[in-house]
Amino acid sequence: MLEHGHKALVEDVELRPIKLRGCELDLYVAPGSLFLPNAVSRLFAKVVEIRPGDIVFDIGTGTGVLAVWAATQPSQQVHAVDPVKEHCELALRNATRHGVADKVNVYQGSLFDPLPLGLRAEVIIGDVSGIADGPGRALGWYSSDVPTGGGDGTEVVIDLIRQAHRRLQPGGRLYFPIAVGLSDGDKVMAVARECFTNLVKKVDVWFPLSDEEYDLVACCLPPALLSKICQRGSRMAWNGLIYEATKPTGG
Ligand SMILES: C[S@@+](CC[C@H](N)C(=O)[O-])C[C@H]1O[C@@H](n2cnc3c(N)ncnc32)[C@H](O)[C@@H]1O
Repeated sequence: MLEHGHKALVEDVELRPIKLRGCELDLYVAPGSLFLPNAVSRLFAKVVEIRPGDIVFDIGTGTGVLAVWAATQPSQQVHAVDPVKEHCELALRNATRHGVADKVNVYQGSLFDPLPLGLRAEVIIGDVSGIADGPGRALGWYSSDVPTGGGDGTEVVIDLIRQAHRRLQPGGRLYFPIAVGLSDGDKVMAVARECFTNLVKKVDVWFPLSDEEYDLVACCLPPALLSKICQRGSRMAWNGLIYEATKPTGG
């Protein structure tokens, strides 16, 4: 677990406001080098259900936006994980800035690896990298310091779904994203159906791409994925989904 008060690694930070369900947070971010909270972060906050006393894991916390938000809810404790050390540092600083550092523990590492053995959550927010390497880098959403979802965008999300059942309390809820077209959503859903009995689509939105963005994406996506990026009105757009998964099959 990261401790407060270590020497700062990230110096080029700025404060930016972000409106999430129920609150507006000023967050330290580092545009250009670290992941920037975005519309998907807001959509997660819109649909994640936190009940009084819940333990929450925020896996893929980035600079801590959803961990800090979850700590402002009636949760008991929030455990936030990210492999990027600089993300973890800003997540801690953001928790301190919002007076919730006593409720947020930040760990550097992959998925559930750094969490204490046996610790389970009622809520797992799984906003991990779910965009294929090509478009993630070409669109500038992922700097070279931040891992993407691999060749087809599914690597991290699939590992998260496969491991989550060992980390959920009975009755617990996992939330995970799918970027249809920018990742192989069918492959993710096949694994999700294997691992969970109940899957509810909580978010289904289209994000338009500019002509320039579409050209970039078209150059680096295999045809099978590119064909899922559709014309919506006058623009090409990709489909962003967030699922709530409950009742693990235990497999
Ligand atoms: C789409 S960003 C979301 C960040 C944050 N939740 C937000 O809304 O700004 C995905 C995050 O997943 C993290 N990530 C990538 N691989 C991971 C892994 N194996 N375990 C945990 N987090 C991972 C990335 O470093 C990045 O911060």
